[in-house]
Amino acid sequence: MPFQLTDEQVLTRDSVREFAEAEIAPIAAEIDQNHRPPLESIGKLAEAGLLGMLIPEEYGGAGLDALSYAIAIEELSRVCATHGVLVEAHSSLCTWAIAHHGTEDQKRKYLPDLASGEAVGAFGLTEPNAGSDASSLATTAVRDSDEFVLNGQKIFITNGGFAKTFVIMARSTDAPGVKGISAFIVERGRPGFEILEPERKMGIRGSSTTPLAFTGCRIPAANLLGQEGAGFKIAMQILDGGRTGIAAQAVGIAQGAFEAACKYAKERVQFGRPIAALQAIQWLIADMAVDIAAGRALVYRAADLESRGEPHGQAAAMAKLFCGEMATRVTGKAIQVHGGVGYTEAYPVERAYRDAKITEIYEGTSEIQRLVIARHYLR
Ligand code: CAA
Repeated sequence: MPFQLTDEQVLTRDSVREFAEAEIAPIAAEIDQNHRPPLESIGKLAEAGLLGMLIPEEYGGAGLDALSYAIAIEELSRVCATHGVLVEAHSSLCTWAIAHHGTEDQKRKYLPDLASGEAVGAFGLTEPNAGSDASSLATTAVRDSDEFVLNGQKIFITNGGFAKTFVIMARSTDAPGVKGISAFIVERGRPGFEILEPERKMGIRGSSTTPLAFTGCRIPAANLLGQEGAGFKIAMQILDGGRTGIAAQAVGIAQGAFEAACKYAKERVQFGRPIAALQAIQWLIADMAVDIAAGRALVYRAADLESRGEPHGQAAAMAKLFCGEMATRVTGKAIQVHGGVGYTEAYPVERAYRDAKITEIYEGTSEIQRLVIARHYLR
């Protein structure tokens, strides 16, 4: 399916690229080395309109279509995967959920702050015993007159260390399996809500990934998001959009590493000429270019279906599966083009290689994407 980007989408791509080069590239290596969340970027991201991309204009956002959003995530991730996932988790997993499932009061209360950067968003589904098997989650939300009382633990929460607005999945009824799960908006700072120590990770090291603990945490009943018992479906719908976002992140990581490999191949002289003149290097470059183009086409297809309001879960799973594995392949080849220096911190490709791996894991592993794709054909 050929894609002709609209003038607006081209403008989004160019302006986000310019922003990322100017504001993010200078700190990308440092935040990785120091495992430091780039808090100074939040205001800049908000000012550039990048925290309100999936928030309708009437609530202070830009109300972008899903394809423009994917393009923006690709451009951020091309320079820094940490910034890519900060914006992606905030947008796809939190702001989208409130914009699509929130009541009018919830939208007015939370979305303007999420668009302005006053609040960053996060999403809590995964638990120590509920990873790929998300429906086995055990956090409870027990109704007590006009409140719910939360108890349980979440893990691997992106933006956990600084987010203010959390969309949390918990069991609120005795109904078995997915039917008992509901979604809630939980604000940072509520008594009984504790943010625990961040993980030290292989890649996306500037991204804050924390456990959350709820111990008798009381939230207003008005913070129920969507219908009671609809939480699992809401989580799956959130991930249908989110997986396209992560696929776009993977394309961006691969694109950044590819550009670095092309640059190095033209500069590095061996056997009396730039290694770009060697067929062995040209074949690597060609294979990387094909892989990225194929991945981007899958992202555009999934995002385009979503923009047009068509079912897009299976297309998103295809994009995430292919792009996650593609990014690992491409960044590995980018290191190969660099040879020994590519394995050092002197060049950005070793960071890209470490960052790429997570795109095969979060928002559903490659194995879960295969399951989602196969079920579509076998149901
Ligand atoms: N949209 C709407 N409803 C959906 C749906 C979708 N995409 N997928 C499933 N459902 C519904 C089903 O129709 C079913 O409803 P009924 O009972 O009414 O028929 C219900 O949900 C249960 O569906 P399944 O039987 O398919 O559920 P399952 O237990 O077999 O699980 C799964 C399905 C696909 C494996 C799911 O558990 C899953 O996606 N697991 C991976 C979890 C995941 O991706 N976690 C990521 C955490 S977030 C993260 O990583 C963020 C980050 O850091 C950046």
